[in-house]
Amino acid sequence: MFAFQLILQCSYVVKILIWSICFIAFCHAWLPDGSSKLVNNFKSISSISFTGNASFPDHFIVLNQDDNSIIIGGRNRIYNLSIYDFHERKEGRIDWPSSDAHGQLCILKGKTEDDCQNYIRILYHSESGKLVVCGTNSYKPLCRTYAPKDGKYSVEKEVEGIGLCPYNPEHNSTSVFYNGQLFSATVADFSGGDPLIYREPQRTELFDLKQLNAPNFVSSLPYGDFIFFFYRETAVEYMNCGKVIYSRVARVCKDDKGGPHQSRDRWTSFLKARLNCSIPGEYPFYFDEIQSTSDIVEGKYNSDESKRIIYGILTTPINAIGGSAICAYHMDDILRAFEGSFKQQENINSNWLPVPENMVPQPRPGQCVRDSRILPDKNVNFIKTHSLMEEAVPAFFGKPVLVRVSLQYRFTAITVDPQVKTTNNKYVDVLYIGTDDGKVLKAVNIPNGDTAKAIVISENTVLPHGSAVKQLKIAPGYGKIVVVGKDEVRLTTLNHCSSITRCSECVGLQDPHCAWDAKQNACVSIDAVTSYRFLIQDVPRGDVNKCWSPQSDKKTVIKSKSDAEEKKEIQTNSLDDKDLDSTDPVIRTDEDPECDPLDENSIGGCAVRQQLVIYTAGTLHIVVVVVSIVGLLLGFIAGYLFSQKFHSHSQYPEAPFIEQHNHLERLSANQTGYLTPRANKAVNLVVNVSSSSPPPKKDNLDVGKDLNISSDGTLQKIKKTYI
Ligand SMILES: *[C@@H]1O[C@H](CO)[C@@H](O)[C@H](O)[C@H]1NC(C)=O
Ligand SMILES: *[C@@H]1O[C@H](CO)[C@@H](O)[C@H](O)[C@H]1NC(C)=O
Ligand SMILES: *[C@@H]1O[C@H](CO)[C@@H](O)[C@H](O)[C@H]1NC(C)=O
Repeated sequence: MFAFQLILQCSYVVKILIWSICFIAFCHAWLPDGSSKLVNNFKSISSISFTGNASFPDHFIVLNQDDNSIIIGGRNRIYNLSIYDFHERKEGRIDWPSSDAHGQLCILKGKTEDDCQNYIRILYHSESGKLVVCGTNSYKPLCRTYAPKDGKYSVEKEVEGIGLCPYNPEHNSTSVFYNGQLFSATVADFSGGDPLIYREPQRTELFDLKQLNAPNFVSSLPYGDFIFFFYRETAVEYMNCGKVIYSRVARVCKDDKGGPHQSRDRWTSFLKARLNCSIPGEYPFYFDEIQSTSDIVEGKYNSDESKRIIYGILTTPINAIGGSAICAYHMDDILRAFEGSFKQQENINSNWLPVPENMVPQPRPGQCVRDSRILPDKNVNFIKTHSLMEEAVPAFFGKPVLVRVSLQYRFTAITVDPQVKTTNNKYVDVLYIGTDDGKVLKAVNIPNGDTAKAIVISENTVLPHGSAVKQLKIAPGYGKIVVVGKDEVRLTTLNHCSSITRCSECVGLQDPHCAWDAKQNACVSIDAVTSYRFLIQDVPRGDVNKCWSPQSDKKTVIKSKSDAEEKKEIQTNSLDDKDLDSTDPVIRTDEDPECDPLDENSIGGCAVRQQLVIYTAGTLHIVVVVVSIVGLLLGFIAGYLFSQKFHSHSQYPEAPFIEQHNHLERLSANQTGYLTPRANKAVNLVVNVSSSSPPPKKDNLDVGKDLNISSDGTLQKIKKTYI
């Protein structure tokens, strides 16, 4: 009897162990990117800080940047800093406080002393070389034109800034100056209840929730014939089912002249589409709240064709578990979404459905035409009520390139150093990602097959006191970036090469900025080297075995190719400088001619390399998962047999066994005899297939399903339609 008890206990422990292994394995599959290769705390990151007027909140933002300077807007002041060392050019400083009258009026309206200041939010160079600046001006937005005069700026004129500049310095607004015109997305009233996308004189409809519904604007940029706006807003198409926020990309034509007659001050081309950033699956997991985008970057991703993409940060809602993702969007996919069907709601209680093609007026609404003022009325009226597209913009690479789940932080900002050259003449994007607790992650996006995955190189605490990173900007130099917090701006270098002393660490870091110099025995920053000779780097795989490739082996392999290609030499060292720009044979890459172990000419290193290819981390992962599944099954069978045999003799409380049977139920649906009525509720949470409800079918993509427990405690499947 004692022996049986012992065995029972053992199998129980083993099962718990196996379940936890399984759980970890599943979590791991969901979270492809759990760790950072280097973690640097605040003290180990050197940076130059700029705090402006340190005694008050500044609400800094970067207004403008060129090759030499970075212009920062703060409280009552514009700063002109050198991009190289953050030295302030005092002669370039512009002071612009609110007038006393405006300040007092603001206080009277119930705002605080800190609110009633002039926070500069917009700056651009007008075509005549003048400087146009807009500020919140104590909740009374104002714009000024400055003319340069003997190295100083003098005020030329002052105009109202309503619709251009926000009232509240923290409002999430955006603007872009293009071809002599300012396109802005902000709010046009004191209370922040009238959001708009505006370019004098056209704007979006006033208080029309179908056009803009409590938006938080993130970025704007010109592309093709359009200006694009990225933002998140309350989803009008989901309102019948509850409140949810979706991410959007919207566009207007650069040359929209407004509609005919009285709609001259309304866009005739405003359209928007949802951005899809989700982990694929039967029920995709969505990251719905966009926080930041990069600029458009152009590069060759998984193909020979050059593509333009934009990276975005999307997160889960603020009250959910902190999930952050980076999704990339191909500009062609964005344009395509606007060529698809429009979405409409027949009446207030019906679902949002695509508009049939024959119901769309001709010419197709939303196209850029030469003169929108002569468009037919029905065309202009259609687009007013049908600004939402049916299709969501899919994520390029099919899924997020990086996913992080953290209780400590969320991603807040992103910037990209595009197409950094590796030593084997490939190009990869280096991503810098800011978090809401003052960290900056450096990652490299590695395309692979049809997809791509970002590897986090380092995680660095740049801002003290855990303050949120608001903006990130690239500065000249490998790894140099500008990190903007609310009250502090820092210039820092996230180039870790020189702090690394071993080849394996240097190569394993996968940082395209660093390579191991086999001659100097040092990890060097590539922008400092003059020759790629002797450099070892493997950005795609971080294969540290490259460090032990036979450096002293003088043997040369000559492989003859069947086609007209000339004989290629693989040398492990003693190379000339001849081909700095072609594939450098010292750096063994994927492009090396395949190793044929049977080839008599091939060197010993060949077989070693083949093994390396086989036993990648992926293989190990699969092996671990397979082993745990086999173990799990064995554990099940053993546990099942034992529990069946000794169930009645058991002196242990029943609860744990019930739980195990519940899992078992999934495998054999008939075994229901062990379920006590008391345990039924708990069971329903685990068992998702039972004889009374049909097995889940693959449905229309737009239909989501939820499991719910109805009042009598039984499991019911309700269908929820969200479009
Ligand atoms: C900032 O200073 C630099 C150097 O003095 C100058 O060239 C540049 O025009 C200034 N930028 C602005 C916006 O004042
Ligand atoms: C702007 O966005 C930030 C970050 O997502 C958010 O915390 C903040 O509440 C937003 N500001 C406003 C005024 O909604
Ligand atoms: C978003 O993309 C996923 C995966 O690519 C897909 O399964 C899902 O149906 C898409 N969702 C929408 C709303 O288009």
